[in-house]
Amino acid sequence: MFRINVNFLKPGMTLAKTIYGNDGQVLLSTGVNLKQTYIEKLKKIGISSLYIDTKETADIVIEDIICEQNRFEAKNIIRETMNNVYKGRVIETQEIFNAVGHILDDLLGNKDIMLNLSDIKAVDDYTFAHSVNVCVLSLVIGIAMGYNRERLEKLGVGAVLHDIGKIAIPIDILNKPGKLTDTEYKMIQEHPRLGYEIVKKHSSISSLSAMVVLTHHERYDGGGYPLGKKGEEIYEFSRIVAIADVYDALTSDRVYKKKAMPHEAIEYLIAMGNIQFDGNIVNKFIQHVAPYPIGTIVRLNTGIQGIVVAVDKNYPNRPIIRCFWNKKGDTYLNEAEINLAHLPAIKISEVLENLE
Ligand SMILES: [Fe+2]
Repeated sequence: MFRINVNFLKPGMTLAKTIYGNDGQVLLSTGVNLKQTYIEKLKKIGISSLYIDTKETADIVIEDIICEQNRFEAKNIIRETMNNVYKGRVIETQEIFNAVGHILDDLLGNKDIMLNLSDIKAVDDYTFAHSVNVCVLSLVIGIAMGYNRERLEKLGVGAVLHDIGKIAIPIDILNKPGKLTDTEYKMIQEHPRLGYEIVKKHSSISSLSAMVVLTHHERYDGGGYPLGKKGEEIYEFSRIVAIADVYDALTSDRVYKKKAMPHEAIEYLIAMGNIQFDGNIVNKFIQHVAPYPIGTIVRLNTGIQGIVVAVDKNYPNRPIIRCFWNKKGDTYLNEAEINLAHLPAIKISEVLENLE
């Protein structure tokens, strides 16, 4: 399979990864042949790219490190939790702990974690999918930092609940396409405090998790909110979640912006090391996220186009590429695979949204 921009989809193409809707329902299943009406619907719900299968790429398989059922469970639980809080009910903390525990089981079952798959999120589904992704990404960092299971659980709970306070912010402000007024921006900045008020009512939620909710928008140089703390004054869990939060936000489509590619988001995090983020933690993070995930279409400096088929953890910037250089009708000829780790003169010059 490979990843393609929706604008290049054609009727008859085969979907390689199931697409879920706002309530977690299956919109289109793996293996379905796309029709024009489906393509229009995908564009309408704000999906910008997805995975498709062709005869030549069917053997390129991308496994999500989190099994579909566990990701789905976590998304549903965070959706229910936000609904409950909205209605003034308490958080079912045990359900949250279980969902985080299942994600952790998946991650700890992998010896070398390399995140390759970008989640396909509908714009409407953003908050829930984002909460789960921030939990996964934060745990990947926590594991890289050598945390024990108990610490990882607390980190994961804080990460999955980090934006719970957004429930108190009007949706039209959260999703406003244009520039926010000062008043609107101040309202958004209230969500860490509001979230903290909610979680601290639950004695089973560790104060370490609650601190993540309160301080995930603090920045390393002191330029964040709500407390304006800086450097090591910001609790380590929050320095981790800040990186996971920004990485997932940058690589997601939102109502008001087009997403960045993983390599662009990674560049941003590196550039902001010890400015917005703890540089040491950024370094841990980038060792476990593929800048060019499997299934990405790239152009090399030789002019050849290809698809990333494998990423070596030791050389994440230099993946193995299946090259395509002849096009006959709609058939791309599979010529060869090259390992950029062994070819210093060849590099990726561009990420493409379609095989051209
Ligand atoms: Fe937030």
